[in-house]
Amino acid sequence: MNNFVKIRKYNYERKEEELSWLRCRVLSFLDSAYFDDVKRKKEVYNNPAVELVAECDDKIVGLIDIEFEKNIGDVAYKSTELGAVIWHLAVLPEYRNQGIASNLLKSAIEVLHKNNIKILQAWTRDDKWVLQWYQSHNFNRKESYLHVFAEDEECDEISKSKIPKLYVCTTFAHYVGEDDEKIKKQFKRVHQCNLFERNLSQKKEI
Ligand SMILES: CC(C)(COP(=O)(O)OP(=O)(O)OC[C@H]1O[C@@H](n2cnc3c(N)ncnc32)[C@H](O)[C@@H]1OP(=O)(O)O)[C@@H](O)C(=O)NCCC(=O)NCCS
Repeated sequence: MNNFVKIRKYNYERKEEELSWLRCRVLSFLDSAYFDDVKRKKEVYNNPAVELVAECDDKIVGLIDIEFEKNIGDVAYKSTELGAVIWHLAVLPEYRNQGIASNLLKSAIEVLHKNNIKILQAWTRDDKWVLQWYQSHNFNRKESYLHVFAEDEECDEISKSKIPKLYVCTTFAHYVGEDDEKIKKQFKRVHQCNLFERNLSQKKEI
């Protein structure tokens, strides 16, 4: 990682912090399958969270948000041990492949270890390089389902408006059935949404 990049906690007191975080997230997602997942406010969590950023020249260039639980099942999906979920992970395109995301994850895992967290989960779509990133950081794919985006007449297959003169133009739906291929053929924009999981009990290199 370049020496000018510093990993630190997200600072709720800093004036420009939220805007810098939002810009980093939206620009980092633009070339990914999450390109239209835009937030205008940073999420705050009901449970404890590790919220770290990578900063360079007073600008947030990378970020990770992980919410973790005090009671099994509060945050993680189908977990039998204390778990945590990565809700946001992003690095600006021009700062990628320097180890910034790896360092954010490493620092976050140190905090999770201190809090006795055993399972770390992440939900991600089907960008090959992102899937490879998780796999190379010791995450295993546990399960998946489909994110289906329908437009115009595609929506008629999913929902019909009951209000006269009101038409459904876009729809976002989850498909958890068995016939993924049929759904992928039927709709133009379909993403596989994958649950990745890393066991934190074994202390592996990151
Ligand atoms: C996924 C993502 C966060 C990775 O960020 P990154 O900072 O480029 O990741 P890293 O630099 O840690 O790792 C990327 C590669 O760089 C290489 N790398 C790591 N450290 C390096 C270093 N010091 N110098 C050069 N290359 C390095 C590694 O080989 C790594 O490849 P690997 O996947 O085989 O391990 C980034 O691509 C991104 O923002 N994607 C879009 C947003 C997204 O999809 N987020 C996840 C959805 S939840």
